[in-house]
Parts: sequence; structure tokens; C-alpha cells
Amino acid sequence: MIRSAGARVAGVIGWPVDHSRSPVLHNHWLARYDIDGAYIPLPVAPENLIAALRALSLLGLRGANVTLPHKQAAARVMDRLDPGAARLEAVNTVLVEPDGTLVGLNTDGFGFLEHMRSTFPAWQPDRGAALILGAGGASRSILAALAGVGVGKLRLSNRSEERARDTARVVDGPVEVIAWPDRHQGLLDAALLVNTTSLGMAGQPSLSIDLQSLPAHAIVADIVYTPLDTPLLQAARARGLAVLDGVGMLLHQARPGFAAWFGIEPRVDEALRQAVLGR
Ligand code: ATR
Repeated sequence: MIRSAGARVAGVIGWPVDHSRSPVLHNHWLARYDIDGAYIPLPVAPENLIAALRALSLLGLRGANVTLPHKQAAARVMDRLDPGAARLEAVNTVLVEPDGTLVGLNTDGFGFLEHMRSTFPAWQPDRGAALILGAGGASRSILAALAGVGVGKLRLSNRSEERARDTARVVDGPVEVIAWPDRHQGLLDAALLVNTTSLGMAGQPSLSIDLQSLPAHAIVADIVYTPLDTPLLQAARARGLAVLDGVGMLLHQARPGFAAWFGIEPRVDEALRQAVLGR
């Protein structure tokens, strides 16, 4: 809540931005930690992105999150990119330094890994292969993050195979690209399946994949969180597999930005989760 003219302000830049859960998320933390600050939605059309990013420092904002469709364009405007954002050529978090320098981070992969580690503390990345479905921005972040923590065998399948090959290039090491109709084959010996496609989202068809060949110790993750309990996660649970829902990545990716803008390392817990889910 804003208590003084010294309040710290950050926001989320998107177009449209009204679907973003980030204002609820950050304002929940601001209230919890009783911080003199605010986090606001910033609707910015693509043709205004450069001016809007430059205006952050002129207006005294601490920084911003960047969401669809601006993540890649924003990376080109930053004065400095951290190594993760440089690799992905995409930014989801902007920090404004005291001299006005814009620093771009990409915390999506961090968000996925932190959600994984906090849900499954005994998770061992090197225990088996991972199959990632989909080749959009989320897929790139997760692929790079998994490679970074030592998942040795990475497999990627996407409806458009060419896009899968492009996405595979974000990783230094080898990524096996599997044709979309053969995606089931990528489950053999896999310890992790991650759906990053929009299949299973409300209003979309569900993802068709036969989980029978997944080993019993495998984890099934979905980044779709509307609905939270997707047909994929239901099928995984019915098979007795461990599941990772889509909202945790969103909650954890927000931590580095909040900490930098407002000066407190925030905690992800059930109350935050319920607030973001609108419950
Ligand atoms: P992101 O939000 O992660 O950046 P996106 O760019 O919106 O993702 O991409 C959505 C993903 O869902 C893509 O991998 C897309 O496949 P294509 O690259 O072939 O378009 C995938 N997707 C969407 N609808 C699909 C469908 N009906 N069948 C298979 N894959 C689908």
C-alpha cells in the first residue's frame, strides 16, 4: 500500500495486460510485508514499448515485469542482460538501476526449477530423460533451465518440428527433437514430462499422450493453470505418477523481481497461491 511519496512502484507491461495475475501476486506480498509500495498494470501497445521501457526510469519506477507479446522485443531495449536473458533473447523482469540503466532478467526457468525443488525436494535432475512438449517461450526457458541443472537427456517435441529445432538451439548440448506424431516414444526412460503447449487450457483441446510407457518414478508437469487440474495431470495422477501444477512457476518467477524492487525476499505459500488463483 502507498503510505508516502517515497513509495516504491513497479508494474507489469503487457498488451493486453488485464489477464495478468502479476498485480494480484505482487500486491499480496506488498500487503503481507507491509511495504510502502505499489505494483500496477501497465498496458503498452507494441509500437510504444521502447518509449515505455525508457520511461520507467524517468517516472521513478523501480522496474517492471514484461509479459506477452513483449518479452523478446524488451530484450533488445535493455542496456544490460543477465546471462540467462541473453541466452533466451527474452526478458520477463526489468530492473531500473539508480543511474537509469535498464537490466533485463529472465526468471521463468528459475520459477520452474524452484517450483520443482520446493514440491519435490528429493528431485534429482540427472536421474533420467526429460521430454518437453511445445516450443514457445516457456519451452525455451524450461529447456535451458533443465540443461543448466544437469538433465543429461533432453527431448523436445512440437507440432511444428522446425520451431522445435529452433528452440533446441538455446541449449549448448544435444537436444533430441522428436516428431510430434511420435511424441509417446519420448516417454521411455523419462523421469520428467513437461507440457508447455496450450493444449489442456480451458477452451482448447486436451493433450493426447499415452502415459503408459512413463516409468513409475516419473514426474508430470503442466504449465497450463487454467484449469489448474488439467486432463494431463488427472491422467498422470490416475496412473499414480507425481504431478507438478502450472501456477507454481508463475509464483516463483516473481521472486527475484520483487526482492530487487522492494527489498524483501518474498515467500511463496498457500495463501499466495489461493490469492493468485482468485479463490
Ligand atoms: P508460449 O506461451 O510458451 O510462448 P506459444 O508461442 O503460445 O507458447 O506456443 C504454444 C505452443 O502450443 C506451441 O508449441 C504450439 O505448437 P506450434 O509451435 O506448432 O504452433 C502448441 N500448440 C498450440 N495448439 C496446438 C495443437 N492444437 N496441437 C499441438 N500443439 C499445439
